[in-house]
Amino acid sequence: MTNLQPIEADVLVIGSGAAGLSLALRLADDYRISLISKGILQEGSTLYAQGGIAAVLGEDDSLQAHINDTLEAGAGLCDPEAVRFTVEHAAENINWLLSQGIRFTTEEDEQTFHLTREGGHSRRRVIHSTDATGRAIETSLEQRTRTHPNIDIYENHIAVDLITTEKLGLSDNRCVGAYILNREDGQVRVFRAPHVVLATGGASKVYLYTSNPDTSTGDGIAMAWRAGCRVANMEFNQFHPTCLYHPKAKSFLITEAVRGEGGRLLLPDGTRFMPRFDERAELAPRDIVARAIDHEMKRLGAECVYLDISHKPASYITEHFPTVYQRCLEFGYDMTKEPIPVVPAAHYTCGGIMTDLDGATDIPGLYAIGETAFTGLHGANRMASNSLLECLVFSQAAVQHIRQQHPSVPRGMAIPEWDISRVTDSDEEVVVSHNWEELRHFMWDYVGIVRTDKRLQRAARRAQLLLTEIDEYYGNFKVTNDLLELRNLVTVADLIIRSAQSRKESRGLHFTLDYPEPDNSKPPVNTILIPEKYATTGNSSGQTQTG
Ligand code: FAD
Ligand code: SIN
Repeated sequence: MTNLQPIEADVLVIGSGAAGLSLALRLADDYRISLISKGILQEGSTLYAQGGIAAVLGEDDSLQAHINDTLEAGAGLCDPEAVRFTVEHAAENINWLLSQGIRFTTEEDEQTFHLTREGGHSRRRVIHSTDATGRAIETSLEQRTRTHPNIDIYENHIAVDLITTEKLGLSDNRCVGAYILNREDGQVRVFRAPHVVLATGGASKVYLYTSNPDTSTGDGIAMAWRAGCRVANMEFNQFHPTCLYHPKAKSFLITEAVRGEGGRLLLPDGTRFMPRFDERAELAPRDIVARAIDHEMKRLGAECVYLDISHKPASYITEHFPTVYQRCLEFGYDMTKEPIPVVPAAHYTCGGIMTDLDGATDIPGLYAIGETAFTGLHGANRMASNSLLECLVFSQAAVQHIRQQHPSVPRGMAIPEWDISRVTDSDEEVVVSHNWEELRHFMWDYVGIVRTDKRLQRAARRAQLLLTEIDEYYGNFKVTNDLLELRNLVTVADLIIRSAQSRKESRGLHFTLDYPEPDNSKPPVNTILIPEKYATTGNSSGQTQTG
C-alpha cells in the first residue's frame, strides 16, 4: 500500500472535450470539480471537428424539419423523444457558446451567421467557425476552465475503472469515484466524488483507419460496462466518406461541408458517381455515401476516389475552408485547382452507454455525456453535426440533474487504495503492441463498412482470444496507459461484434451481405447488451443479449 489520500471533489468529470468542459464550466461556480484528461486538456475529437453544429437558426428552417431529417438519417431507430429534446435545446446552447466567447462565421453583413449544409440536412442549418469549429470551441472552453478557481485539472491522468458501492460490498449501488492512473509517475489514486461524469468520447480507434485522434479508445464505454451499465447499438459505427488519402495524412478529415458547398465525388477517370446511388447524390446521409465509395473502390480496384470543388472560385474555397486548403497544400494538392484523393474512415460511435434524458446511466451517481453515451438521438446513423450539439444539450441536462440530486447524495465513503501487491513490471510489452495492431486490422477487415456472418464469426473468435490474453496480462502486470487502452478497445470490439452478429438485417450504418435489406416485418429495435450479472433485472426494451 502507498498511503495515498483520496482526491475529493463534488463532481468528478472524466474527459475534457466539448461534453466534459461544458459540464465542468456550467457547475464550477457552485461545486468543486476534478477534471481528468488522459492527455493534454485540448486533445480529443472536439479539437478536430470541422463542419459545425446543427441548430435551427435560419428563417426558412423549423424544429420539425431538423427533427424529421434526424429521424430520416437514423433509419427508424432514433428515439423521437431524444431527438425532439435535443433539437429544441439547440438554440439556447449556441447562445451559451456565444456567452463563452466562441466566434462563429458570419455573412458579409457581419450580423447574420453563415449556415452551411451537410449530408442529410434538408436546409442550411450548420453554424460554424470556418472549417475549424471544434478548435474554436475547445480552445475557448479550455481557457475558461484553466482559469476557474473551482476546477482542479489533472492532465495526463487516465481513468482505470469506476468505483461503485456494490464493488465495495454495500447493497445500495452507487458510483462514488474512480481509480485514476497518473501517467507521469505511474501511481493509481482514488478520486472520490458523489457524482461521476463519463465524457470520454468515442471508440473509433478500434478501427485501423479513422478520422479520430488517439484518445478515442472507448474507455468510458468499457468502464461503464465493467461497472454494470447497459450498452446499446454498438454495431452502428459511422464511417466518414472523405478522409484525405495520403500515406502521411494520418486521420485528416475533409469536411462534409465541402460537399455541402458543391463538392462532387469522382471516380479516378473523372466520372461523377453519387447520382447513381441516391437522388441526394453527394448530400445523401453518410452511410449511403461511404458505402457507395467502398463499392466503387472495390469494383474498380481503386485505392481512392476524388472530391472536386475546383469549379468554385478560389477565393470562396480559401475563405470557407482555410484549414482543409492549407493541409491539402502541404500534401501537394491544391483544391482550388484539382480534385483531392479521399477514402472513408471510422469516424463516430453511434452506440454507447445507455442514458436517459438527464444523461443518467443505470448506476445512480454515474452520468455519461457526449460521444460515449447512447441517448437515442442518432439511431442507426448520426446526421452530420448533431454530435457537438448532443454534447452540449446533454451536459446542460446532466448539470440540472446533478444540481437537483446534490443535497441528498451520500458522501465520504471509505474506499480501498489500488492494490499493487500482486503485480510486477511487464516483461513483455510486445504483447500489447502486437495485440493492438491485430485488433485494429481485423476490425477493419471483418467488421467494417460491409459485413457478413462469416467475417463477424472470424472477428468474434479473434476478439475472444484477445480478451483472454489481455485479461491474463492485466492480472499480472502493473497498469500502463497502453495496456488500459488496449483492454478497453478489446472490450469495445467484442461489444461491437456481438451487436453486429445479433442484427439480422441491414439498417443505417450496419450493412451485411447476408441480410442486405432492412427487416420490415416488425418494428426496428435497438440492440441492448446487459452485463451478465445484471441480466435478471430485465430492464430493457430492445433486442437484448447478456454477457
Ligand atoms: P472528445 O472531444 O473526444 O473528448 C474525450 C475526452 O476524454 C478527451 O479529453 C480524452 O482525453 C478523455 N478521455 C478518454 N478516455 C479517458 C480516460 N480513460 N481517462 C481520462 N480521460 C479520458 N461533430 C459535429 O457535430 N460536427 C462536426 O463538425 C464534427 N467534425 C468532426 C471532425 C473530426 C475530425 C472528428 C474526429 C469528429 C467530428 N465530429 C463532429 C464528432 C465530434 O467532434 C465528437 O463526437 C465530439 O467532439 C465528442 O466530444 P466528447 O466531449 O464526447 O469527446
Ligand atoms: C464534417 O465536418 O464532415 C464532420 C461533421 C460531423 O462529423 O458531424
